[in-house]
Amino acid sequence: MAEQVATNITWHDGTVTRQERQDVLKQKGATVWFTGLSGSGKSTIAVALEQVLFQRGHVAYRLDGDNVRMGLNKNLGFSAEDRAENIRRIGEVCKLFADGCVITLSSFISPYREDRDLVRALHADGELDFIECYVDCPLDVAEERDPKGLYKKARAGEIKGFTGIDDPYEEPEKPELHIRTDQLSLEQSVQAVLDCLAERGLLKG
Ligand code: ADX
Repeated sequence: MAEQVATNITWHDGTVTRQERQDVLKQKGATVWFTGLSGSGKSTIAVALEQVLFQRGHVAYRLDGDNVRMGLNKNLGFSAEDRAENIRRIGEVCKLFADGCVITLSSFISPYREDRDLVRALHADGELDFIECYVDCPLDVAEERDPKGLYKKARAGEIKGFTGIDDPYEEPEKPELHIRTDQLSLEQSVQAVLDCLAERGLLKG
C-alpha cells in the first residue's frame, strides 16, 4: 500500500452527483479488469468490446499495459516492485474513470494476486463495480501465438523475467469472469463480458 506523503491537503467535493452522471450517460461506471498471460487475448477482447459498446452508444475506454507503459508508467520496468506500482497507479486511474461513469477496460498482465486485490479494494471503497476477468489460455497456446515475438526472445534468454517463462503468474481464485480464449471465439468472449455488464445493470442509467 502506497503511503500518503503530502500533508495539508483537503478533499474537495463536486456538485455533480454519481446518479446525475448515470442519468445523462445512461450507464454506470465500472472497471473490467482483464488479467492473464501476454498473448492470452486481453487487449484483443478489450478492443472488440470497446467497439461494440461504442456502437451501442456507451462510453467505454481502454487502458492497455503496453500503451500506459509508454506514458504514465514509462519509468517502470518489470520487477515485482515496478509491476506492483504499475498496477497500483492504473488501478487508481481506473477508479477515477469509473467514478466518472466510464466503462473502463483495463488490460494488464497484473500477475500478482495481491496487486489485483488492492485494485479491487480501491473500487469497493469507492462503491464501484470491479469485474475481474481472467483471460485464460495455456502457456503453450500463448507461446504459439506469440504476437510480439517476445516468448521467442524470452526462451532465447534475450528477455529476463518474462511472465510465464521465468516470472510468475498467479491465477485469480474467484474472478467474476473466466474466459478460456483457447476454447471460445472472440465474439463469444466479448458476449460473455457484455452479458456480465448487463446482468449487473451497468448498461442503463
Ligand atoms: S504487468 O505485469 O506490469 O501487468 P503489463 O501488462 O503492464 O505488465 O505489460 C506487459 C507487456 O509488456 C507484455 O504484453 C509485453 O508486451 C511487454 N513485456 C516486456 N517485457 C516483459 C516481461 N518481462 N514480462 C511480461 N511482459 C513484458
